[in-house]
Amino acid sequence: MSVVIAIDGTSACGKGTLARKLARHFGFAHLDSGALYRLVALRVIADGSSIARREDAIRAAREIDPLGVNDPRLRSAEVGEAASVVAAIPEVRAAVLQFQRDFAAHPPGDARGAVIDGRDIGTVICPDAAAKLFIDAEPRVRAMRRWLELQQRHDPAGLTVPNMKMIEADLLVRDQRDRSRAVAPLRQAADAVLLDTSDLDIEAAFAKALALVKSKVETALAARPRG
Ligand code: CDP
Repeated sequence: MSVVIAIDGTSACGKGTLARKLARHFGFAHLDSGALYRLVALRVIADGSSIARREDAIRAAREIDPLGVNDPRLRSAEVGEAASVVAAIPEVRAAVLQFQRDFAAHPPGDARGAVIDGRDIGTVICPDAAAKLFIDAEPRVRAMRRWLELQQRHDPAGLTVPNMKMIEADLLVRDQRDRSRAVAPLRQAADAVLLDTSDLDIEAAFAKALALVKSKVETALAARPRG
């Protein structure tokens, strides 16, 4: 039995960074579930198809290779926006659900646990996770972080980085789409703890997140059957 930490939250709230740091701390495997939806979107765009064509998105979701999650093209603003459109399609979500549950149950590298970040990890993918966090930050702060991230990244598509106002508007549209979709909407699980990182730098946010999950994770690790 693996021990799961579920981290959900709004766009660009810093949940990926926190998830990676928590995974490193506990020696757990990390899965960025958003990258799966970004992979679907990238495939549709790369095939020259329209993101509005549901059947193309569903086919792409059924054929994606999760090994491609580190493709730098996934990080563009265009792919992020398209990912939130395809993520609202129930068949797309169904196609990537089992991969996430398998990752949680059998983390790669024989890790004792997994940290998975996304929008529906604590509510749908791993409702029995040992520890759950819901991360948020003020839209202005999130827009600034995303702008810096896009600036720092080499953009292979040669796309220009949108300005901060445009990024903030885009984040709010995506949050609204994520919160209002019929299947697996973004929401805080009843047993998740809210962490607002607006006034916290990465190290301070990590220290708080660790303090919130530590005893739950240690209790779950101690309860695992030996052997
Ligand atoms: O990095 P950012 O927070 O902007 O986005 P992401 O976590 O990479 O996710 C991209 C999009 O995939 C989100 O806007 C969501 O619409 C969708 N997503 C989802 O629906 N469910 C998840 N578990 C993860 C992402």
